[in-house]
Amino acid sequence: MQLPEPRGPLGEALGHDLATRTTLSAATLECADRVSDLATCALTDEDLQLSLAVCYELHYRGFDGVDDDWEWDPALLRLRAGLERRHLAALRTLVGTVAVTDEPIDRQLAALIAADDGPSLSTYMAKTGTLAQWREYLTVRSVYHLKEADPHTFAVPRLSGRAKAAMVEIQADEYGGGSAERMHSELFAGLMRDLGLDSTYGALWDEAPAAAFASVNTMSLFGLHRRWRGAALGHLAAVEMTSSEPSRRYSAGLRRLGFDERTTVFYDEHVEADAVHEQIASVDMCGSLVADDPELTDDVLFGAACSLAMDGVAAHHLLGAWETGRSALRGARLLAA
Ligand SMILES: [Fe+2]
Ligand SMILES: [Fe+2]
Repeated sequence: MQLPEPRGPLGEALGHDLATRTTLSAATLECADRVSDLATCALTDEDLQLSLAVCYELHYRGFDGVDDDWEWDPALLRLRAGLERRHLAALRTLVGTVAVTDEPIDRQLAALIAADDGPSLSTYMAKTGTLAQWREYLTVRSVYHLKEADPHTFAVPRLSGRAKAAMVEIQADEYGGGSAERMHSELFAGLMRDLGLDSTYGALWDEAPAAAFASVNTMSLFGLHRRWRGAALGHLAAVEMTSSEPSRRYSAGLRRLGFDERTTVFYDEHVEADAVHEQIASVDMCGSLVADDPELTDDVLFGAACSLAMDGVAAHHLLGAWETGRSALRGARLLAA
């Protein structure tokens, strides 16, 4: 994929260095310090979130014209750590204190989800979402779904025993159980194409708002730091536990617009699979993790709370724009299409 269009001074300087140099320039490091000191919310800061996503992408597929050696460049990792500190501080502010009880972890996760009062994007898309709004929604979600399962998978080697086996069981399904065309990322790409969108990996990054990147950056941060393995598993559990019913609604929304099962297969697959994954994730995966390592309980719940809160941020962004007749994307190219 190509480097994305920069959204501010940091992205500009970082992109320039990645494309033309072998290490970061002093100007880029200064920009990073300034972005790290800004008072705005890190989770909606376009320059910060895209720059953090660019840093993380070096661990996924990288960029055309950017040397693979940048992945472990010490100066770049130091810059990334500064952005991560701001991102984490914003997450802590967003989710507040997450109460921990003596209940089994699956019950605590279920209670956290039951208490979530974020807006229901799936209900809106089922009943109201237009084709243009569907294209916008898929564009936002493509930042994650075209690499679906990859961020959490980074946590696998940090686990052992039953928690590891349970996570691998879930992730194997996400990767299509050995069938490339059944990989959830591939099913999502097919959905995008059916709605007239470019499904090439990274092709729609320039359209996607900060909220889309903030959501995936949260997963990448948890997956790439062993210190956050509990949060990575809690995050994955929350994803699995909040997927089955909403997927049914998303599928209904597409059928309302006249699409058939060829297009809805991405969601239909999740209705079935995630009803099973929910149990494996909460009881087997998170239950085993905290049975072996009780001090990770807080992190599991924090990761789950971050997943719910970031879904809320994205839903507010999309619904807020649509309520006032605006596009939720950068450069309203798609709504006009
Ligand atoms: Fe999936
Ligand atoms: Fe799943």
